[in-house]
Amino acid sequence: MQLFKKKLKQEHKIMRQAELAKGALLPEYHRPTSECPHPERWSMYDSMTAEVEVLEFLRALITTLKPNLVVETGSFLAVSTLWIAEGLKRNGFGKVVSCEFDPVVYAKARENVASSGLAEWIDLRNESSLEMQVNGEIDLLFSDSDPPIREQEVKRFLPQIRPYGMILMHDASSHLKIVREAALKMEAEGLLSVILLPTPRGLVMAQKRAGRQ
Ligand SMILES: C[S@@+](CC[C@H](N)C(=O)[O-])C[C@H]1O[C@@H](n2cnc3c(N)ncnc32)[C@H](O)[C@@H]1O
Repeated sequence: MQLFKKKLKQEHKIMRQAELAKGALLPEYHRPTSECPHPERWSMYDSMTAEVEVLEFLRALITTLKPNLVVETGSFLAVSTLWIAEGLKRNGFGKVVSCEFDPVVYAKARENVASSGLAEWIDLRNESSLEMQVNGEIDLLFSDSDPPIREQEVKRFLPQIRPYGMILMHDASSHLKIVREAALKMEAEGLLSVILLPTPRGLVMAQKRAGRQ
């Protein structure tokens, strides 16, 4: 419980820092890892929002794969949600359902969505990824909530993910470990095929094994 409270405070602190920075770019904060020895070559808005290059990659995946339904866990300030929505707007169809369980952070994310001109592509929810109900088949899952629950989260949505759907798990560096280990565990269990992208915070790209031809 103590840990939980500390974590929330950290999110609120970074939220205030992000407001003061007004969208200025900084060098990536994550320490070097064996797979990514030069994190400073990447950029970030803040340490919660995904690296700028990962945001660009997300948008490119949306325009490449043309998903009908994208699910994101962990909206934070909805920056990644907006990059996904930009891709959907270019495609001319689709929806991103994104959840943020902290009500203070969610309120700010809602403001950002409302002022973005992209609201019609976004279904933003103030709920936990472990309770959120999504209807329909998922083409792309971006798992970016609390690292310890990512395995549970992916397993929860797995039956709804299309056989050729894409699963992305952020924060999967060898330093952060827990998300990386969760992805490799699900691979060992025969649930996923996994690629570990050597970005500063680490990005797992995966597909489920079931249903491929
Ligand atoms: C790393 S940030 C997300 C960053 C965002 N995806 C981006 O790149 O712009 C993680 C967020 O997940 C939220 N979170 C943590 N556990 C959650 C859960 N079970 N369901 C929904 N949101 C959660 C936290 O409050 C935090 O705002």
